[in-house]
Amino acid sequence: MAYRSRNSSPMRPGFGGTASFKVDTLSIDDDMHPVIHAGRVAVVTGAASGIGRAAAREFAKLELKIAIADTNEAELEKLGKELISVVGEANVLVIPTDVADLKQVEALKEKVYDAWGECPARLSARYLAIAPIRMGGRVGSRYVAVLMNNAGIGADQGKSWEGLDNWHKIFNVNLFGVLNVQQTFVRSMVHQENQALVINTGSKQGITNPPGNPAYNASKAAVKSLTESLAHELREQTHGNVTAHLFIPGWTFTGMTKSATTTEKPRGAWTPEDTVLYMLDKVREGDFYILVPDNETKKEVDQLRIMWGAADIAENRPALSRWHPSYKPLFEEYMREGMAQLE
Ligand SMILES: NC(=O)c1ccc[n+]([C@@H]2O[C@H](COP(=O)([O-])OP(=O)(O)OC[C@H]3O[C@@H](n4cnc5c(N)ncnc54)[C@H](O)[C@@H]3O)[C@@H](O)[C@H]2O)c1
Repeated sequence: MAYRSRNSSPMRPGFGGTASFKVDTLSIDDDMHPVIHAGRVAVVTGAASGIGRAAAREFAKLELKIAIADTNEAELEKLGKELISVVGEANVLVIPTDVADLKQVEALKEKVYDAWGECPARLSARYLAIAPIRMGGRVGSRYVAVLMNNAGIGADQGKSWEGLDNWHKIFNVNLFGVLNVQQTFVRSMVHQENQALVINTGSKQGITNPPGNPAYNASKAAVKSLTESLAHELREQTHGNVTAHLFIPGWTFTGMTKSATTTEKPRGAWTPEDTVLYMLDKVREGDFYILVPDNETKKEVDQLRIMWGAADIAENRPALSRWHPSYKPLFEEYMREGMAQLE
């Protein structure tokens, strides 16, 4: 089937979607989904806080088996106990892991597959194909179904020419952490019988590149590129059996975005639970780009900003023209006109 663009022109998008500031109409109890359902295995990195923790809790509610990984061992243990009270000890693995360290990620994979039934890598693809039949369907159901590659760190603000150590630190977690997990798990997931999915957590900052945090932006731009490549490769090789999804949270009140002085969620932010429910709904619908709104930024505002950024290249404007004094009035007019189309 050929898809047609919903947009009338790059600079004048036709709006196909609706703004969503609410999650109360969303459902997560769809136990018919081939991947996200009871008994299947979810691995969540960065699970000790914020979005990762909320995702692990949702997977537990849905009765998946859950492996949680994070560098924050104390918080991870606490969450582990909570999850055990929901799905039972046999269905929870608490595995302290630094995703920036490939050896630790390999150990994470081994523990997950040891516990929940990997066919050893040396077995042939032919065996892998018949194993679920031999084992009465049990083996296939115990492969990793949901790989949520979510661990990430914010950045000290700085200029592009400053703080090389900080750049390394951020890339080691935000890009190489994602890559370590992806390379370690996906090579097995592509051979499995049952459907599976990979969710990589990106950021709007990796798309629109707002000034002020260049290392974080660049790391998340790389995650976008990496995940697009992954989606294409999986489509070619597994014909939809394993899919990739770029999860792009809106402003979410988490450890990363909390300030030392704020304990209450700002009105504009979503809770991690809201963000995860929205993400799961869109994963179920099969979306690749999961662009999550928040109480301050409608989906259409994000769409217009993204289109403007892309047009910087197409129209040979200065870099980041949205913040360029000569283009500011034009950008504001563009946003006004774009939003007026909604009314
Ligand atoms: N909160 C937002 O508004 C927002 C917006 C866009 C994207 N994101 C992204 O969402 C993801 C989750 O962030 P969050 O907002 O929940 O922040 P958070 O700080 O609450 O959670 C991040 C978790 O990752 C863990 N972590 C950090 N480095 C790690 C490492 N090397 N190995 C394993 N775990 C590690 C932390 O210990 C923490 O538990 C991140 O990738 C972040 O960039 C967040």
